[in-house]
Parts: sequence; structure tokens; C-alpha cells
Amino acid sequence: MNGSIRRSARAKVNLRLKVFGREEGGYHSLETLLLRLDLADSLSLTTEPGGIRLEVGGEERDGVPTAEANLCWRAAELFYAAAGNRPAVSIRLEKRIPPGSGLGGGSADAAGTLHGLNELHGCPLSSPALLEIASELGSDVPFCLSGAPFALGWERGRRLLPLAPPPPRPVLVIVPCFAIPTAEAYGWLGEERAAGSRPRDAATLLPPPGRLSDWTELARLAENDFEDPVFQRHPELAGGKIALVAAGARIGLLCGSGSAVFAVFDDERARAEAIDALSPSTEFRLIPTRTAGPDAPGG
Ligand code: C5P
Repeated sequence: MNGSIRRSARAKVNLRLKVFGREEGGYHSLETLLLRLDLADSLSLTTEPGGIRLEVGGEERDGVPTAEANLCWRAAELFYAAAGNRPAVSIRLEKRIPPGSGLGGGSADAAGTLHGLNELHGCPLSSPALLEIASELGSDVPFCLSGAPFALGWERGRRLLPLAPPPPRPVLVIVPCFAIPTAEAYGWLGEERAAGSRPRDAATLLPPPGRLSDWTELARLAENDFEDPVFQRHPELAGGKIALVAAGARIGLLCGSGSAVFAVFDDERARAEAIDALSPSTEFRLIPTRTAGPDAPGG
């Protein structure tokens, strides 16, 4: 089948990220609230004989692999293997989501590739088969594939309860000049726990799903277990969070396992004031965006 397809691959933030015990296979069990942002990469997939080709452009392309190490490539490989077809696609990826920042850009790109390839090739794979591949690619990929703007996730991120998103709010993401590899952040968290510096929480009793779409409730639940170990090694990120909250953010949190920090504001004016307050002296790049509304397009 010949053709071309375009996909938006949206970033995510974790409004809550609790990490529990290590499961079989070395991955940790999670409890997380995932919310999409408007900030997105764009993907263009074109069927073309001769294997997989990947071209990366866009303002955030630095440090993004252009071959097998890119999650898009791996997603394409796994897709064609499962579909029983010879790989035949040219992928053009425009990066706007900073890599290694905890915003799930690579996962969104992989989910967009899976979804797009399936459509391009006449849907040879069922939703459960796509989910299987997504889980293999990474913890955030099933959420990105689901198309849900907001969800509660458990285990390795594979079990998801889609939720009605809270009303869209302005967001400011602050990005340092370094990335944090996810596996490294898990290692730091493990060291902190082995040293017994903080008791590990048990699974939380969350409020009923209906209450999770309310910003007041979300501000109460906002928490990220990676903050302690990451902030210890990068105190400037703790400083960034404090500055955002001091400038009027309702929520300020580390993005996933880092390295970016995001802040949610009540309105555009509050965010504009925070940008004015931070801009003159900040060492971070500032990326304004919004939380996704109920009509966020999928994959
Ligand atoms: O899921 P993702 O591929 O982004 O994870 C990268 C690494 O982070 C994994 O290889 C693993 O070391 C660690 N990880 C973990 N438990 C999770 C998710 C990731 O230990 N639930």
C-alpha cells in the first residue's frame, strides 16, 4: 500500500509520579497521573521500499538519534516484524519536545509511528497487538498510544484508566542545558531508598476518578518521587521549581524523571508575569504551552 500520513506526537507531564517496588524484569511498579500538553513533535510517514529511513529536523533535534537508537525506528521495526511485512517506510520527524527532559517526546514519537504505520498499511495489527509493542518500547508509550488526554496509570504504565481532563491551563516548561537518562534517575532513586533516607510510600488511596479532573484536587496530589534524588544532584532544578511557584504557579513539578520542570498557571496573565519575573536571570530555556483539553487528537 502506498501513501503518506502525518501525525502530531504530544508531550506529557506526570502530575503525580509514585514509584513502588521493582517487579520481575527489573522495571518498577508506578502510580501516575499523565496529562498531555499541546507541545508536540510532528511525524510524517511515507511508504517507500528499501527498509526504514529516518530523518530528524526541528529546533530540538540536537542529541536525537537518527538510526536504530531512535524509538521511532524501533517502533517501525517491531511493527513490521509483527505485521509480517518487509520494512518500507521513510520517517520525517520534526522535534519540538526537548529530548531527555521527561516530557515523553520519544515515547510520543514511537506511539505516533506505530499508530501511523498501522493506518498506512491498512490496519494489519489489532489494538492489543499495538499495545503489546508499545509496552515493550517504554513505560509512557501505552499512554501516548491510547490517545487519552489524561489518564491514571499503574504497573509499568501499561494499565491505564482514561479520565476527563481538567480544564486546559497555561503551562511553562523550563529546560536546563542537560538531559537526564531515565535509567540513571531510577538508579539515583534506588540509591536513596537503599540508604533509607526516606520511607517508601505504600500505594495511595486516590479520590474517586471524577475528582481527579479538578485543579484544586490535582494540586493536592501533585508529587513526584524523582524530585528528591534529582534535586539533590541538580540543585538548580529545585531552584527553578521554587522560582516558578514564587512567581505564581499553582503547581510546579519535575517532568517525569527530569531534566525539565513544568508549572501550571491559573491563567495567561499569571504565566506572563512568571515569564517576566524569570526571563532576565534564568539559566533555563522557557517553553510556553498548554494542557490538552478533552478533544486532544490521539497518537
Ligand atoms: O520506560 P523507559 O524505556 O523510558 O525506561 C527507561 C529505563 O528506566 C528502563 O530501562 C529501566 O531501567 C527504568 N525504568 C524502571 N521502571 C519503570 C520505567 C523505567 O526501572 N517503570
